[in-house]
Amino acid sequence: MIFAANWKMNIGPSEARRFAKAFVEAVPLQSRREIWFFPSAVTLTTTVKAFRDRPDIRCGVQDVHWAPDGAFTGAISVALAAASGATLALVGHSERRHLFGESDDETGKKVRAVLEGGLTPLLCVGETLEERERGDTMAVVLRQLEMALAGLEPEQIRRTVVAYEPVWAIGTGRTATPEDAARVHALIRASLVDWGATTPKVLYGGSVKPDNIVSLLAQHELDGVLVGGASLTTATWSSLVAKGVEARLTPQ
Ligand code: PGA
Repeated sequence: MIFAANWKMNIGPSEARRFAKAFVEAVPLQSRREIWFFPSAVTLTTTVKAFRDRPDIRCGVQDVHWAPDGAFTGAISVALAAASGATLALVGHSERRHLFGESDDETGKKVRAVLEGGLTPLLCVGETLEERERGDTMAVVLRQLEMALAGLEPEQIRRTVVAYEPVWAIGTGRTATPEDAARVHALIRASLVDWGATTPKVLYGGSVKPDNIVSLLAQHELDGVLVGGASLTTATWSSLVAKGVEARLTPQ
C-alpha cells in the first residue's frame, strides 16, 4: 500500500523541514505501507534529510531527462536525482504530457532511463475528458502503457509502479467513481502481468482527499494513491494517510 504525495511547484526547503517535523510526529512508523514524497527538485535534498530516520518514507523527483548528462538546461538526469537522494521518479505525469508537450515516446525513454539508473519509476497514465466521452479510456491507457513500457525486460516491468490518473480528475475536485477506477486498474494490472510483472502495483490519482480515500480504497484493485492538493498540508496529508491505513490495513 503506497501513499504518494506530489508537491508539484509548491513547498520550498524551510517549509519542507517544518512539514516533515510535524508529519513524523503525526504519522507513526508503520511497516505495512509506504509514504512517498515528490518535492520540487530544489527541495529534494532537504526532504530526504528530514525523513532520513523513517524507513517507511521514500523521496523522488517529479520528472527526469532520459540523457545521462549534457547540455539540457533546466533538466535533471537520473544520476543527478539519485545523487541528491531520490530513489523514485515520477514519469509521464499528465501535466508534463499536456502542459509541457511530453510525447509517449519521450515518456518511454524516461522510464527506461529511470530503471537503468536503479530508481523506481512511478509511471502516470490517464485519459482526457474528451477521450473519456468518446469511450476511448481503455484504448488511451493501453496505448500510453505500451509506449512507455515497450521493450523492457520482465525484471524492469516488475520494478515499475503505475498510477492511473484521469486527466479530468486532477486538481478539479472530480474523481472517478471507485468502480470506474477499479475497471481501469484491472486492465493495467492484466497488461503488466502479461509483460512479466508478478504482483503489479497500481495507484489511483485525481482529487483524492481525506473524505474520499475510504471509498476509493474499498476497491482492492487500488494499491494506493497519488495525491497533489491534499498532500500540501500536514493536516490533510496525515489525515488522508491515517484514514487510508485504517480503511485497508486494520483487521475487521
Ligand atoms: P490532485 O493531483 O490530487 O491535486 O488532483 C494529483 C496529481 O496530479 O498527481
